[in-house]
Amino acid sequence: MGIETSCDETGVGLVRDGVLLGQALASSMEEHVRFGGVVPEIAARAHVHAIVPTIRAALDDAHLELSDVGAIAVTTGPGLATALHVGVAAAKALAIAAGIPLYGVHHLAGHAAADTLDHGPLPERSIGLIVSGGHTSLLHVRDLTRTPIEHLSDTLDDAAGEAFDKVARILGLPYPGGPAIDRIAKEGDRTAIRFPRPLSGSGDPALGFSFSGLKTAVARYVEKTPDLDVADTAASFQEAVADVLTSKALRACRDQRVETLVVVGGVAANSRVRGLAQERCDAAGIELRVPRMSLCTDNGAMIAAIGDLLVRDGAKASSLDVTIHPTIELQTAQLF
Ligand code: KG4
Ligand code: ZN
Repeated sequence: MGIETSCDETGVGLVRDGVLLGQALASSMEEHVRFGGVVPEIAARAHVHAIVPTIRAALDDAHLELSDVGAIAVTTGPGLATALHVGVAAAKALAIAAGIPLYGVHHLAGHAAADTLDHGPLPERSIGLIVSGGHTSLLHVRDLTRTPIEHLSDTLDDAAGEAFDKVARILGLPYPGGPAIDRIAKEGDRTAIRFPRPLSGSGDPALGFSFSGLKTAVARYVEKTPDLDVADTAASFQEAVADVLTSKALRACRDQRVETLVVVGGVAANSRVRGLAQERCDAAGIELRVPRMSLCTDNGAMIAAIGDLLVRDGAKASSLDVTIHPTIELQTAQLF
């Protein structure tokens, strides 16, 4: 069983031998809309209300009982401290009640493991592009569980999802911004406005990401354009993000001589990111792996997936003293 409560989704999933048996998800997203972003205290309170029913719903979905569960994995970081605590407390209680081992896991390792539920085990080496609300990183991934994950680059400022959320706000679109921009961009012309491609100059770090300048460029454009076409602006912004993400991810594959690119995290649900990544991978002879959309955004199945991999690898369980790590960088899947 995997339990995820790092942000605004309460997710519980059940995985055995790489196969998703069932899952359930509750979200407090609606409660944050009027604030334009996730309010940690509201998220934590929502997790408290949702956690037990969501565990029950996931077990029902898998036609299992708690006594059938062999191990529990829980996100211990990174994420909102108050939110993480709810999942960790629930996971400890279940582990003690059922007398089963507990594994603290890294949220981003879960995002990467999500893809194995759709496409089977990862190859020996792959490049991971993690694009979420809080992170934008290029990773050199080996087995996910034993060998430390190598960071090739991390965003210097905003994460890609954060840029979507902030630009949506500038355009008067609702939170969360990613899905809203994705939707309206379908009615726009992605070549209408040439927004900058950050850190793409010859002197820039080849794999570096930065999205705060792009966000400012959109804000300036909006200010000086009285007859603004929101769909064109959204489509052109989305194109800039998709262009930078995919060109740098392919560059990383070439640099590291890796033949598989795995794109995961909330922004991997974006239709243009998926489309452009596929086009460019096809042209370069690189295998693209992107999980189904519901496994891209936060969920419990991805945490169960990484827990299942750890258990099958014979990893030692975390102690019941395992605690939260709100800002920990991804190096190893398991956190103690
Ligand atoms: O991975 P995730 O669910 O939570 C974090 O771990 O952060 O990612 C959430 C982020 C939000 O910023 C949201 O706007 C973005 O993913 N997102 C999208 C799409 N769906 C979610 N961004 C672009 N296009 C989408 N379709
Ligand atoms: Zn996430």
